[in-house]
Amino acid sequence: MERVMERVAFGSVLLVCLVSVRTSETKVFRLPQLCKFCDVESTACNATGVCESSCNITSICENPDEVCVSAWRRSEGNAIIETVCHNPALPFYGQYLTDYNNTVCQMKQVEDMKEEFYICSCNEEECNDRLFFTDVSSPPGTESPLSKRSLRSVLLVSLFPVLIAVVVLLSAFYCFHMFHQHNLKAPKTKGIDSETCAIIVSDDDRSDSSSANSLNHNTELLPIQLDAIVGKGRFAEVYRAKLKQGAKDESFQKVAVKIFPYEEYASWKTEWEIFSDTELRHENVLQFLTAEDRKAEQCYWLITAYHERGNLQEFLTQHVIGWDELCRMGGSLARGVAHLHADRTLCGRSKAPIAHRDLKSANVLVKADLSCCLCDFGLSLRLDNSMSPEELANSGQVGTARYMAPEVLESRMDLENIESFKQADVYSMALVLWEITSRCSAIGDVREYKPPFGKLKDHLCVESMKDDVIRDELRPEIPASWTNHTGVQLLCSSIEECWDHDPEARLTAQCIVERFSEISSTMISVSSDDKSAQDSGNYEK
Ligand code: ADE
Repeated sequence: MERVMERVAFGSVLLVCLVSVRTSETKVFRLPQLCKFCDVESTACNATGVCESSCNITSICENPDEVCVSAWRRSEGNAIIETVCHNPALPFYGQYLTDYNNTVCQMKQVEDMKEEFYICSCNEEECNDRLFFTDVSSPPGTESPLSKRSLRSVLLVSLFPVLIAVVVLLSAFYCFHMFHQHNLKAPKTKGIDSETCAIIVSDDDRSDSSSANSLNHNTELLPIQLDAIVGKGRFAEVYRAKLKQGAKDESFQKVAVKIFPYEEYASWKTEWEIFSDTELRHENVLQFLTAEDRKAEQCYWLITAYHERGNLQEFLTQHVIGWDELCRMGGSLARGVAHLHADRTLCGRSKAPIAHRDLKSANVLVKADLSCCLCDFGLSLRLDNSMSPEELANSGQVGTARYMAPEVLESRMDLENIESFKQADVYSMALVLWEITSRCSAIGDVREYKPPFGKLKDHLCVESMKDDVIRDELRPEIPASWTNHTGVQLLCSSIEECWDHDPEARLTAQCIVERFSEISSTMISVSSDDKSAQDSGNYEK
């Protein structure tokens, strides 16, 4: 009973917060939008009249700036609808969204595309579900969204005093209950409650509130149905899964579940601890939902956002990208790494700098808008005072040989200096930037995908990498023909600075973020001077 009351109390507080944020005149906070989010699906809609997206997944957009977007296109004779959340500050298929303040999704044809292509965007809950191909100031057969909104406001305003009274009562009950418990119970310890499977962290262990989001506080495990395996790593397997949204209805959210066998507890714990710092949240870091100890199944789970396009290595194997996509993928990768390494968030709050230590294209995921996010933090290290000198000293050579910096291959890192961990990450990031560039049409003749230093299937061991990377100072080839494109030329110079043999001479990830903005602005002026010579390429399968 107490637990139910607690939940009701929490729910009511949340509801009142939502009401006050949604009804306030001056919007101080923006709530994330709720949008249809099925990525790409085939459709019977033939781009006339009004179509339904037929997408049965409603997703909370990751970022409050994101709006709902739908695109319709005909690809090789098949009609396809794409439903996503997207930040209008960034181009979508090379187009800036201009209609995202609309309440309905009014389709507009994009002219200079190879195929028939329509895009619409809007800023109301699930507004990308109904797609209007005919011009609608007030779509036929639908209630005006404005009148719906005002009706909602009237309802909310009249319910407001009742809600306040309920919240005051429930909060008083909640405070009393917490006070009572605090006085009765022994101090909690970090561990796993064997009865409930919920993970408990002591109050003093994690006194900073920044870790509160990482735990499945529910006593029951989440209602998740595993669908298919989508990845296999050193310590765990990743599955696409459905997280059921309600007890009765059929709706669900697609999520990824990383399953660690019981023997890999340490790896699960490392990754869970890295993820549980809420300050790590960033659009270019995989979004973490919760962790669970699945006792009955003898394994541990990490539940995260799911990205349909899979990892960057698979994506580059199957796709050639254009210059804009190269900048989007490379820039977002650098922003992810810079955020990981930073000791402040974008909002200026302090955060622990983290070294990834296994950066490679297989540990980068491609999001729906082709930006990237970092994943797989199983070898990551918090570079704060939580590490003792012995722990640091024992944290020498880890990662994947192919992507290891020379000083890591040689086990000659300066383990006392946290910057050396970041410099090793920057080396690996440079190899990934090279991989992305190698599949960009702006370089001219694009060859089939190859990882840095050779064939995909070959397993490269530390000893053979030492011969190449240290003795012969080999790096992936940058053919002269690539530098015919001004942007690629500038990018390759930066890549070369990042894989310098001397760790101290390497650029920082933040510097690469800035280089990408400089290169993009240089290219805007180049392309307005000479539009045809430096074509942005096309993104094709
Ligand atoms: N492979 C590994 N993690 C993944 C994720 N979160 N989404 C899609 N594919 C993945």
